[in-house]
Amino acid sequence: MPTLGVNIDHVATVRQARMTNEPDPIWAATLAELGGADGITLHLREDRRHIQDRDLRLMSETVAVRLNLELACNEEVLAIACDTRPYQATLVPERREEVTTEGGLDVAGNLAQVSDSVKQLQDAGIVVSLFLDPDPAQIEAAVAAGATAVELHTGAYAHASAKYAADEELKTLHESARQVGEAGMTIHAGHGLTYRNVCPVAKIPNMGELNIGHSIIARAVMVGLEQAVRDMRRLIVG
Ligand code: PXP
Repeated sequence: MPTLGVNIDHVATVRQARMTNEPDPIWAATLAELGGADGITLHLREDRRHIQDRDLRLMSETVAVRLNLELACNEEVLAIACDTRPYQATLVPERREEVTTEGGLDVAGNLAQVSDSVKQLQDAGIVVSLFLDPDPAQIEAAVAAGATAVELHTGAYAHASAKYAADEELKTLHESARQVGEAGMTIHAGHGLTYRNVCPVAKIPNMGELNIGHSIIARAVMVGLEQAVRDMRRLIVG
């Protein structure tokens, strides 16, 4: 059975929309932990559009479950990761214009740079996962780069427009997961997973960890809104 890493970036996105101090992703991490999250995932982007350095620092002190830091192969952020030492780091590609992480990391095309980043993080005692498209050449390159785990990008499966297309993508995920496992690396998956599409991915043999953000935060807004309005109205009516 895979563990669940809850990505709380969206909570920071709402806070940054007003540059204020609420909602605080630290509270969100605590509540996710109370809800049974096995890990908290956060992405410290180069442009700091959501998670701030302060969030990472405080979470590294307060989160009791595994902290998984997503980051690009970028000198400044790598240095922060090595200094903060979360349990795990997941290397992802990053483009400033993107809305969210779009594709997997091109390890095959940047083997020297990725290998250096993996080594730097591992030397600091951090478990290193690489976020990859389910592509045999990229998985082979992840082995060469010395990664401990591979997070398979589930976006193509999640966004498939028809059932037969989703089934094809699921088959590809199964094959990639087998390749990752046979190479001795831990199997993770994430991106675009929802309450509707998660079960077949969770059932992939030896799936170790799922990282889910958008769908959980979207549901949290909906299940919490009614109570939030009731609380405000009580204050106003007196
Ligand atoms: N895994 C990685 C590497 C990601 O970059 C993201 C998005 O930040 C996720 C998982 C979570 O994706 P989603 O928000 O679609 O659940």
